[in-house]
Amino acid sequence: MKLNPVDLIIKKRDGGEHSREELRALIGGIVDESLPDYQLAAWAMAVFFRGMTDAEITELTLAMAESGDTLDLHDAVPAGALIVDKHSSGGVGDKTTLAVGPIAAACGLPVGKMSGRGLSFTGGTIDKLESIRGWQAELDEPRFRRQLREIGLVVAAQTADLAPADKHLYALRDVTGTVNSLPLIAASIMSKKLAAGADAIVLDVKCGRGAFMETLDDARELARLMVAIGDGAGRAVTALITAMEQPLGRAVGNALEVAEAIATLHGNGPADFQELVEQVSAEMVVLGHRHNVDRSAALGQVQEVIRSGAALDKLRAFVAAQGGDVAQIDDPSLLPSAPVVVPVPAPVAGVVTAIDAREIGLTVVALGGGRRAKGAPIDHRVGVMCDAKVGGVVEVGAPLAWVHAADEGIAQTAVARVQAAYAIGAGRETVGSIVLERVASR
Ligand code: URA
Repeated sequence: MKLNPVDLIIKKRDGGEHSREELRALIGGIVDESLPDYQLAAWAMAVFFRGMTDAEITELTLAMAESGDTLDLHDAVPAGALIVDKHSSGGVGDKTTLAVGPIAAACGLPVGKMSGRGLSFTGGTIDKLESIRGWQAELDEPRFRRQLREIGLVVAAQTADLAPADKHLYALRDVTGTVNSLPLIAASIMSKKLAAGADAIVLDVKCGRGAFMETLDDARELARLMVAIGDGAGRAVTALITAMEQPLGRAVGNALEVAEAIATLHGNGPADFQELVEQVSAEMVVLGHRHNVDRSAALGQVQEVIRSGAALDKLRAFVAAQGGDVAQIDDPSLLPSAPVVVPVPAPVAGVVTAIDAREIGLTVVALGGGRRAKGAPIDHRVGVMCDAKVGGVVEVGAPLAWVHAADEGIAQTAVARVQAAYAIGAGRETVGSIVLERVASR
């Protein structure tokens, strides 16, 4: 159907609700390049102010999901098995996929995942895995399917042209002040998950200073929208809203995070990260078994594959299949390491009351562990190990954290930044569960 884009912009500007045809026409205009960017940007701004109904968001998501390649991986998994994916909205020190992927696969769920590289102050799974010598992110589709069939675990850089309409709209939102629209974020994330062929999805919606969603209200609404999109698209979705005020775990930086994920698969991860990994994995097991196991049984299964070493074996098999050096998994001290490692002393004694996760993330980018320009190389060796976490008691001069840097000069600048990112006070600070809330359609 041919529609005049001006009519769509005016309708949304005045608070109207789009029909399926209107949204399909809009996305069609992106795909066939007939819709000029200035009109798309004006429409995005109208959505920013007027919002969208759940029905509109679902239709927009489906139209974007179908704007490019769509994967169907069912021929590469056992008959009747569900494809269960996970997605994190991004945070500092978020190496969850590195541990959850092997655990879910060891529990018998096929995990075929396309992951991204770092964005702004948050790292990316592919960058982290590339810390492992020889590990390859670029797999063609036949190889991706073969590995999924043979090992049950693949994590690769996105190759298929998934949701190109989202890619175009996102780039435009990025330069027109319209990224922060909850309906557009929900549609953007979910369109890629649907196109990647997930039957069921566990979403880890990060909330706090180190995340894109800074308030619980926004995180709740984003989670609710994505669950509603899943319902509308016939996919099971569970969202966990998880705390991202302080960095997740202790390690921030690529190789350091790989080592921490390995420790977690040994059952020795930092308490907050170990809990998150086990909870996300258990939700995946519940969805993968179509709710035929309850959450406590699923958690038991997850803890058993960690205890038995099955999850670690899965990581080894996956790393080997993608050309990586398994010796580094067996002995993480062989992972790339920085030449300079210096402590960040506590300026005063007391209790850690806050750690500014965003500032720690930006410090790691400044150390060379993240990108300031698309395609720039990164230094896998560098990062920050936050020894003291919120609630920890520190003595004056004791190390709050350790900076891993390429040289002494850069290290000293980072030490000052990390020190300033820590707030130390008096009294007690209680830290609750990392999982703040759970949002699911059932
Ligand atoms: N991540 C996405 O994929 N899309 C958004 O719009 C925001 C975060």
